Order: sequence, then C-alpha cells, then structure tokens
Amino acid sequence: MKASDLSFRAAVLMVIAGMIWGLVMGITQDHSTMPAHAHLNLLGWVSLFLFGIYYHLHPALDVGRLAKVQVWIWITATVVLTIGIALIHSGRSAGAPVAIVSSLIVLADMVLFASLVFRFTPAEVTARRSTQPAE
Ligand code: HEM
Repeated sequence: MKASDLSFRAAVLMVIAGMIWGLVMGITQDHSTMPAHAHLNLLGWVSLFLFGIYYHLHPALDVGRLAKVQVWIWITATVVLTIGIALIHSGRSAGAPVAIVSSLIVLADMVLFASLVFRFTPAEVTARRSTQPAE
C-alpha cells in the first residue's frame, strides 16, 4: 500500500472515532477529555490527511519505505498520545509519562517528515536544471 493510501485510510478512521468522541462529550455534557478529542482530530485527521496529499503529489516518495514508516509512526504515536492526554484529563496521573513520550515521538516523526520534504527533489526540477545552459 502507498503511504498516501495508508494516510487517507487511517485519517478517516481517526476522524470517525474523534467525531463519536465529540458527540459523546456533547451528550454527556462532560467535556473533560476535550484536549484528547482535539488532538485525535488534529493529529489523526487533519495532519494525516495533509501527509496523504503531500505524498500523493510526490509519487516517488509515495512508494518509498521511509514515507510509510513515517505514517505508521504517526498513527501509533497519535493513538498513544490521545490515550495519554485522555488519562491526564480524567484525573489519572499515569497518563503523563505516556503523553510525554508519545509527544516526543510525534515531534521526531514530524522532523522525519520535514527531512523528506527538504531532501526530495522532483524529477522534473532536476531535469529542468540539467538542461539549463551554464552561465
Ligand atoms: C461530530 C463531530 C464533532 C463533535 C460532536 C465535536 C464536539 C466537541 C466538543 C463537545 C468540544 C468541547 C467544547 C468545549 O468544551 O468548549 C470540542 C472541542 C474541540 N474540537 Fe470537536 N467535535 C467534532 C469534530 C471535530 C473535528 C473534526 C475537529 C478537528 C478537525 C475538532 C476539533 C476540536 C477542537 C480543536 C476542540 C477544542 C476547542 C477549544 O479549545 O475550545 N472537533 N468538540
């Protein structure tokens, strides 16, 4: 499976879970876990979907192993971070180390994504450069 397909599929599953979470908060009038809902939706839906669009626009990256690793790390760390934040906001201090470690992993994974963005040179740009006459 391409990195973009993985991103899109995980993103829609996460937003369905996030929306159900939001509905439950609304129905029960208990908004205490709101930060976890927000992180699940923003890291799990918005960010993953954006990764998917980027990878889809860069087919050479999309089929590579590193992009898929980046997406899998993001999926796993987002789920763990969401659980950690939910635990903290429901009064369980055990959630703190979970949230700290997973948030650092999310950050490291964003650095990995940034390195892919900076390292990647689209084939057409390389071709254009090589055909330009030297000044
Ligand atoms: C069925 C869909 C959704 C429902 C029912 C829902 C419900 C809620 C509720 C009840 C709150 C707590 C508000 C408060 O306590 O002030 C909340 C907060 C929040 N939600 Fe959702 N939500 C939904 C979808 C989404 C989506 C798709 C996103 C992001 C893409 C999102 C992002 C947020 C954010 C960032 C907050 C925190 C807002 C703040 O800090 O005041 N939600 N949502």
